[in-house]
Amino acid sequence: MHDQYNRKIDYLRISLTDRCNLHCRYCQPEVSEHVTHNEILRYEELLRICRAALQLGIRKFKITGGEPLLRKGCSDFIANLKQLEGAEQVTLTTNGTLLSNQLPALIAAGVDSINVSLDTLDAAYYTELTGGSLDSVLQALQELQSAGIPFKLNCVPLAENGPADIMQLLKLAHRYNAPLRFIELMPLDCNANLRGVSGNEIRSLLEQAGLQLQPDAQRYGNGPASYWRISGYAMPVGFIEPLHNKFCAVCNRVRLTSVGMLKPCLYSDAGMNLKHLLRDGASDADLLQAMQEIIYAKPAGHSFDVKAARFNMSQIGG
Ligand code: GTP
Ligand code: 5AD
Repeated sequence: MHDQYNRKIDYLRISLTDRCNLHCRYCQPEVSEHVTHNEILRYEELLRICRAALQLGIRKFKITGGEPLLRKGCSDFIANLKQLEGAEQVTLTTNGTLLSNQLPALIAAGVDSINVSLDTLDAAYYTELTGGSLDSVLQALQELQSAGIPFKLNCVPLAENGPADIMQLLKLAHRYNAPLRFIELMPLDCNANLRGVSGNEIRSLLEQAGLQLQPDAQRYGNGPASYWRISGYAMPVGFIEPLHNKFCAVCNRVRLTSVGMLKPCLYSDAGMNLKHLLRDGASDADLLQAMQEIIYAKPAGHSFDVKAARFNMSQIGG
């Protein structure tokens, strides 16, 4: 369907859980409260919402968290979602640390592609930033490659990433021919002490290293990245620039939080708790109407560039 600004909305991001086994400094603080099992949407509730979303013209689903692979039954859910008529793509965004074990089940479920967060190749900095171990992620990348599953890499560069680290990430992405995306730090109350690196700064850094960048009109997913080709590198490099290159005018997505809030924009407080509607006995028609109203009223844009957001990213799903 189209929203009030005539944007076509065909992409739903679904957060399966607000829990994460990592504590990335830019995403959620070390100690954060989690919702209880009863508060999160059950899989049958999620599928009911997805069926309604399909009726409204949603065709692409992104499974996120927290860390989605922490939730038991994630791959069964993906398999069920893939079987719904009209579901064209079901993709997953993960920190990669739990991927090795679950990859066979995800492949059997029919996952279309996987985004892996990888902010650095410096093992000590990775641990300092995330609280996890880089090895498990690197192992998962090998396995993704061997299995032939398309994957992309997400890096949120901070001032701590030196140029050498950025070049290492580029080389790794080249080796796997996996699109690498640099994401501008979205300011949250919990990450005010960090300094992000803008897309412009990364492009300048690459140019200073002697690389030539050419815009690439092709899209490599359903999200907000714009892509560039870099001389000598196999893969495209993407930039997600919510602060310096806002993409709201062409936004195509809404999101569902783990507790059932349908949010028309990552930043906005607007939305409706569909779980309450479902648990209060709403009919399919009621559900459809509520979702239609929320999507239609999607705001013109976010305000990350004006004011930090109050939530942790893991509560919304990024
Ligand atoms: P694909 O292009 O299909 O791979 O999807 P994607 O790039 O949307 O997926 P991913 O989950 O990897 O998200 C990458 C980054 O984009 C994350 O930091 C998200 O928070 C950010 N992002 C995605 N959608 C939005 C949005 O609507 N608004 C803002 N501000 N950021 C978004
Ligand atoms: N700013 C930008 N990107 C973020 N992510 C999480 N928190 C932030 C933030 N504050 C990214 C993760 C992951 C994706 C889903 O969202 O790195 O790759």
